[in-house]
Amino acid sequence: GLMRELKGIDVMELELKHQLGIKKVIIVPGDSDESPLVKGELGRACALCMKKLLSGKNIIAVTGGSTMAAVAERLSTNHHHEELLFVPARGGVGEDVANQANTICSNMAKNTDSKHRVLYVPDQVSSEIYESFIKEPDIHEVLNLIQSASMVIHGIGDAITMAERRKSNPEIKQKLESGKAVGEAFGYYFNEEGEIVHKVLTIGLQLEDLAHIPNVIAVAGGASKAKAIKAYLKKAPSSTILITDEGVAKRLLKG
Ligand code: G3H
Repeated sequence: GLMRELKGIDVMELELKHQLGIKKVIIVPGDSDESPLVKGELGRACALCMKKLLSGKNIIAVTGGSTMAAVAERLSTNHHHEELLFVPARGGVGEDVANQANTICSNMAKNTDSKHRVLYVPDQVSSEIYESFIKEPDIHEVLNLIQSASMVIHGIGDAITMAERRKSNPEIKQKLESGKAVGEAFGYYFNEEGEIVHKVLTIGLQLEDLAHIPNVIAVAGGASKAKAIKAYLKKAPSSTILITDEGVAKRLLKG
């Protein structure tokens, strides 16, 4: 449309895709930091992208966060002819109920008239608990479903914002500060070089699993997340599709 051309968004999408070295970049107009409506547009763009990529039976692994919640809002029964199963990508990583992957998967299933599974595991489990949890049949089954997902959709957060939102303890905050963490995704925290500074020990999808999943969609917007997005994408598989906004795109293309 005219708006896209005037703003040069098509050009920015290509430039950013090359800069980040990933499969595709989709940019929506505006900046999520400035207007909540833009987050809704990110959700809409993600729903469209998913529709284009999906056919037949699919397991979709989903993370938490307000952006994923916005995606859930925009999904509809247009996906109806597909057989979808939504599963949380990782155990609870300390979000409010509305932003938890379990809640989001349930909304996604409701809005697309499909199914979902839950993963009830606490945030930051000890290694002993971790070992016994993964042997529980219900949990084991969900973990197998995650491993056979054909799509992952996930958010990316600013490191310090996420640590605060998750009420991480002072030692962890200290670790993130001294390690200069800037970005967060799936409970992994990254520095500007894309190195892992800290990882929340929880069950479910691990970063290395992404390599085996055909469709990976990252959805994150707002200029304040620019550094976080760039950092995470240094580590992310090059098959990643990024759905972002103009606020992020302008900042990354300037720098
Ligand atoms: O892991 C990243 C966060 O879940 C992103 O959360 O979409 O609310 O910024 P957000």
